Amino acid sequence: MTDLTGKNILVTGANRGIGRALVEEALRRGAARVYAGTRAPFAHPDARVTNLILDVTDAAQTQKAAQTITSLDILVNNAGAALYDALDDPAVLEHHLAVNLYGTHRMTQAFLPQLVSSSGAVVNNLSVTAFAPLPMIPAYSISKAAAFSLTQSQRALLAGQGVRVHAVFIGPTDTDMSRDFDAPKAAPESVASAIFDGVANHEEDIFPDPMSQTMAAGWRSSPAKALEREYAGVGSQPEPGTAPTPV
Ligand SMILES: NC(=O)c1ccc[n+]([C@@H]2O[C@H](COP(=O)([O-])OP(=O)(O)OC[C@H]3O[C@@H](n4cnc5c(N)ncnc54)[C@H](OP(=O)(O)O)[C@@H]3O)[C@@H](O)[C@H]2O)c1
Repeated sequence: MTDLTGKNILVTGANRGIGRALVEEALRRGAARVYAGTRAPFAHPDARVTNLILDVTDAAQTQKAAQTITSLDILVNNAGAALYDALDDPAVLEHHLAVNLYGTHRMTQAFLPQLVSSSGAVVNNLSVTAFAPLPMIPAYSISKAAAFSLTQSQRALLAGQGVRVHAVFIGPTDTDMSRDFDAPKAAPESVASAIFDGVANHEEDIFPDPMSQTMAAGWRSSPAKALEREYAGVGSQPEPGTAPTPV
């Protein structure tokens, strides 16, 4: 088990499921402080846990949290929404994007100064549906694919500032979110443990459960991953807002 002694960690969606397991795992690994971002008040018996009211779609709450937390080593963008849909209601797609894409983007931008200062890490909890959509949750799958692209761009853009950005491709895990999905599921505790191991081992892309693990080697040696690395080496446009070279 890798150590988090002395580290300050923020987990969004910390009150249940994988987020709650991440809080417990961070404490077990010796974290100095765990900020538990939740939409409703959340009490924890360990004095190292500080609750923050934090809906990731709420810009004012996000800003307030960023002003409250002056030092941060790891930001875990874990909060997620998942609803069954058939792409027939734009509001459902917008809701998924608001939480899973824009929420992740908003949080990382808000905490960037602290993460640059600590040479810290961002952990974006994605899904194997970022690679292949599940037809019963297309809006969710779209939002996770978009958040994957966001992660790749953040990784390239923030590397020069010493901030690592991890993608976590989570497979079916036994939480409220996947309650109605009939498949073998990993325990949230083992997923949380594998996530912190992956961060400690500097794995850009973390496959934290038996199902996602089957994809790890193939992804890491894929032409798509090679292209991500190649493009990352090109760097960003010197003047944001100007027209890029077509590809
Ligand atoms: N479980 C799986 O099979 C699975 C598979 C792949 C990926 N994942 C990903 O893993 C992450 C955690 O999922 P989970 O399985 O633990 O789900 P979960 O048990 O349904 O928990 C979701 C968490 O996200 C919070 N949340 C939802 N909308 C939010 C918002 N706008 N602002 C802040 N928090 C919000 C929820 O808070 P409330 O309690 O207030 O609703 C809850 O704490 C998600 O990103 C999910 O997409 C899960």
